Amino acid sequence: MSAVVIVGAQWGDEGNGKIVDIYTEFADVVVRYAGGPNAGHTLVVGDEKIVVRLLPSGILRRGTRCVLGQGMVVDPGVLIDEIDGLVKRGHTDVEQRLVLSDRAHLILPYHIQVDTLREASADTRAIGTTKKGIGPAYEDKARRTGVRTGELRDLARLKTRIEAALDAWAPTIRALGGEMPSLSEILDSLAQSATRLVPLLGDTSSLVDGAIRRRQKVMLEGAQGTLLDLDHGTYPFVTSSSAVAGGAAIGSGIGPNRIDTVLGITKAYTTRVGAGPFPTELDDADGQHLRKVGVEFGSVTGRPRRTGWLDLPALRYAARVNGLDALALTKLDVLTGMSRIKVCVAYDTPRGRVTDLPIDELDNLEHPPVPVYEELGGWTERIEGARVLDDLPRAARAYVRFIEEQSQVPLYLVSVGPRRGETIVLHNPFVGRAAAP
Ligand code: GDP
Ligand code: IMO
Ligand code: MG
Repeated sequence: MSAVVIVGAQWGDEGNGKIVDIYTEFADVVVRYAGGPNAGHTLVVGDEKIVVRLLPSGILRRGTRCVLGQGMVVDPGVLIDEIDGLVKRGHTDVEQRLVLSDRAHLILPYHIQVDTLREASADTRAIGTTKKGIGPAYEDKARRTGVRTGELRDLARLKTRIEAALDAWAPTIRALGGEMPSLSEILDSLAQSATRLVPLLGDTSSLVDGAIRRRQKVMLEGAQGTLLDLDHGTYPFVTSSSAVAGGAAIGSGIGPNRIDTVLGITKAYTTRVGAGPFPTELDDADGQHLRKVGVEFGSVTGRPRRTGWLDLPALRYAARVNGLDALALTKLDVLTGMSRIKVCVAYDTPRGRVTDLPIDELDNLEHPPVPVYEELGGWTERIEGARVLDDLPRAARAYVRFIEEQSQVPLYLVSVGPRRGETIVLHNPFVGRAAAP
């Protein structure tokens, strides 16, 4: 087994950072394949807590090659700050281990400007974006006015590309009441970034494919989550990239047949940041418990995350659209102290009861699908010290097994705290596949 995709099965923030960091102990190469600095992946190692935005979560594992794939949108300033921040903390070899696809797209100041103006405008539907310029950067890519990282190699050509992009954005910026950004300021700043980023550029498709051919172990790291995927998420309340496992092939430049295993991550409950449907959302003491104990505040924007019960139809949907072979369950410890735990197992809809996620009906305000819950027993013991399933209280074990059975995806890992060690590892996706429950 040499290429493994790790993908969020919910609306992001499932604990991607921690799980990728754990399994990268076994990986030679880690590739981020989608999204940009809208991601915030938290790594807790010893007393150190690091949130990576663009860098792959394998960055703390010495000896691991880290790749920013061509499916990404990259803000040059954020990337340079992130590298410098890690070097300051003593991770001095970051640049030597990093390769940036020369086909990734640049996030430029006008993307952030448009994203921010749109979110504030009364005329557009606010998505609750991270205002990092993600949507407009992918819009530029799709309308073929985007600027790619490889263009930093030729500043004269870069100038004509940015001039064309500014022309294309001018009507939008003006309609939103914004001022046109200065071309010369953008170019000066990019000239500085180029001195740092050009040495990192490379053909990452060849690199990743070559690593797989040499039987090295490659981890393909997702960002955001299945329900934020542009095609498969709760459209239009989604991000603008292919977050699902299929995006890993496109975003890293390898064939889908090179991927051996797809591992999905789900929290033991659900969270969402930003606008859009969230049927199992809680607005009560249970919801506050999840936010407080789970420290559910956005790692990029600091916004309080919306919290709710686990949604099994949504998890089964994620299992389908990603082809999940394996499941990692995170933040089980956050449920400690809840007297009973509810799980959505089906939906009541005008068509009757369904066990699939009625994703396109979720924002039907007249007849919203109503979650059908099953109630499971809670536990009071702290579980951060559990290292095997038998260390868990009986009710916690029953909860974990219930999720595995209902999702029909074999459980590979249970996370019982933010630290590396606070983990029950059942299987290693680089070693082979476990049987379905
Ligand atoms: P990501 O975007 O999926 O990497 O997730 P974030 O980093 O945005 O948010 C996950 C948060 O949960 C981080 O603060 C992690 O340190 C933390 N975390 C991860 N796994 C666990 C766990 O099992 N228990 C607890 N209590 N916290 C966890
Ligand atoms: P990680 O990788 C959670 C959400 C935003 C908003 C929507 C669109 O840490 O899991 P965008 O800025 O992408 O145009 O915003 O997507 N969003 C995330 N929510 N975790 C993330 O990343 C997210 N990245 C984007 O809140 O609702
Ligand atoms: Mg996050």
